[in-house]
Amino acid sequence: MTTDVAEAVAALRAGHLIHLPTETVYGLGARADDPDAVIKVFEAKGRPRFNPLIVHVGDMATAEDIGVFDDRARALAEAFWPGPLTLVVPVRDTGKACDLARAGLDSVALRMPAHEVALAVLRQAGFGVVAPSANRSGRPSPTTHADAIEETGGAVAVALDGGDCPVGVESSVVSLLGEARYLRAGAVTRAQIEAIIGPLAPDEAEGHRSPGRLSLHYAPDAPVAINVLKPAPDAAYLAFGPTDHKGAVFQLSATRDLREAAANLFRMLREADRGHPAEIAVAPIPADGIGEAINDRLRRAAGFVG
Ligand code: TXA
Ligand code: MG
Repeated sequence: MTTDVAEAVAALRAGHLIHLPTETVYGLGARADDPDAVIKVFEAKGRPRFNPLIVHVGDMATAEDIGVFDDRARALAEAFWPGPLTLVVPVRDTGKACDLARAGLDSVALRMPAHEVALAVLRQAGFGVVAPSANRSGRPSPTTHADAIEETGGAVAVALDGGDCPVGVESSVVSLLGEARYLRAGAVTRAQIEAIIGPLAPDEAEGHRSPGRLSLHYAPDAPVAINVLKPAPDAAYLAFGPTDHKGAVFQLSATRDLREAAANLFRMLREADRGHPAEIAVAPIPADGIGEAINDRLRRAAGFVG
């Protein structure tokens, strides 16, 4: 456990993996220009190779070295970076974001995270860093240092401790290849994107969206049931506001605050799972704002997206 940024940058330089704390979730980081380093990320996660990774950068110049930014991409970066927004743009330099990182696509996903530890690492490194969530594939994303260690601690040379992740769900992903599309819901909402670049294209059918979005994702060991108002007595309940459930209760937000619920979501799914309940039941969560992202993750945890 460390907060030594220089040690983390040295490990990245040498082609090793690190835990990269960000404002959304903990990432499993490797230098994006080194296929031998990037392959370790896929191996440690058990992640399918056709699922491309996000390349994280610490400044705009590095971003524009790696990807081609049009006016829309620049306007969005200006408005939301550093922050929980990933932009998919045409790749400029396929050496700086290697084929394996992009899963062979001619586009690249770029993000500048709003976390002082992540930014310090990225700025000292000067190269792009791939960082998928630091969980093993299919499991809930880690939002605390301890959860990151539990998931992939054995795979990293340096496990940076950046505290608890304040956002708690992964970045919004917007594609700017042709018409702008909202590929993954996150803390930056559709309405916020549209306020900057105008209307987004309608969603495509699931499966034609972000590559590699698996049906069972973010899943704890116990089965997950969503939109539950009256949980069974032997269920662990993720409540959203007051509840009279007599079994185990994990309160996402007593005041029904969606941002607080997002920040608690993955940690509470894990905590509920540790009690080995018959089922994890989750209260209905409104779909507005970051609620769209919460509902997206919950549908996948429940196996409802095919
Ligand atoms: O908040 C986050 O984004 C976290 C933290 C660690 O930064 N990272 C993260 O990475 O969630 P990952 O690898 O789990 O998610 C990458 C997402 C996937 O949905 C992937 O399919 C999509 O971005 N993606 C990556 N490259 C893409 C591309 N060229 N075209 C379309 N989607 C892409
Ligand atoms: Mg993930």
